[in-house]
Amino acid sequence: MKFIHLTDTHLALEPLYGIDTRERLERLAAHVRSRADGAAFAVVTGDLVNRASPKAYGAAAEILRGLDMPVFVLAGNHDDPQLMQEFFAPASEVDLCGLTEGKRPALLAPQLLRTPLFEAVFLNTHQDAAPSGRVRADDLARVREGGREGRPRLLFMHHAPFASGIAAMDAAGLENAHELREAIEAAADVAGIFCGHLHRTMTGLWAGIPVWCLRSTAHAVAPELRGAVMKGVLEAPEYALVEVRCDCGKLTVLSQTMRFTEPDACFCL
Ligand SMILES: [Fe+2]
Repeated sequence: MKFIHLTDTHLALEPLYGIDTRERLERLAAHVRSRADGAAFAVVTGDLVNRASPKAYGAAAEILRGLDMPVFVLAGNHDDPQLMQEFFAPASEVDLCGLTEGKRPALLAPQLLRTPLFEAVFLNTHQDAAPSGRVRADDLARVREGGREGRPRLLFMHHAPFASGIAAMDAAGLENAHELREAIEAAADVAGIFCGHLHRTMTGLWAGIPVWCLRSTAHAVAPELRGAVMKGVLEAPEYALVEVRCDCGKLTVLSQTMRFTEPDACFCL
């Protein structure tokens, strides 16, 4: 099974730091259609828009529908969860197999997605009027309880649970990462975490769990380790094509980043 992970699309109606974020997302959708059409669904891990407005969410929804697959979203610190739900319907549980083919692709904000190989748990880390994040008590309880069908679980959230080392970003990080860690350790069925917020691609282990944080499809954050001022940098945007397999009862999860704005310059080796 394959899925698309993208994050921090920051769709803006005007150029953002000189970037046409709408055109970026359209190019991403075209790239997915031409290169990654075997994906079963896409997940956007927050910050869909830069400034929440019906127009911005409407534009994001229209372009994301062009991925031609179900799209699941969660809120980031730039999002307005209430407004977002007018364009991405809230759902407590979604069964991927139950989504009817042939209709317009679903745009949903689920809490749980069941797939044949794993369960995807969507955690809401948005806080009103704060760039930092916090996993809510009910979400912590859902993580702690463990999955119902014995399948491994993958967590999706906006704020990265780990400290990045970039001081200005870590000041706006996840406030209760220790509580999430305790819940994950209690459940013992979490196979990995997909997140955004840092606007940098960072992968590794956090609390022994694989983490995949992706660069924004808009602007990147500069790897300035010191200083309170957050700095941006213009780097090639990315999305990821993630392949999940189940080999002998063990999950294999491989995330391949795709640079969708670079010229296609393939050659034979
Ligand atoms: Fe962001």
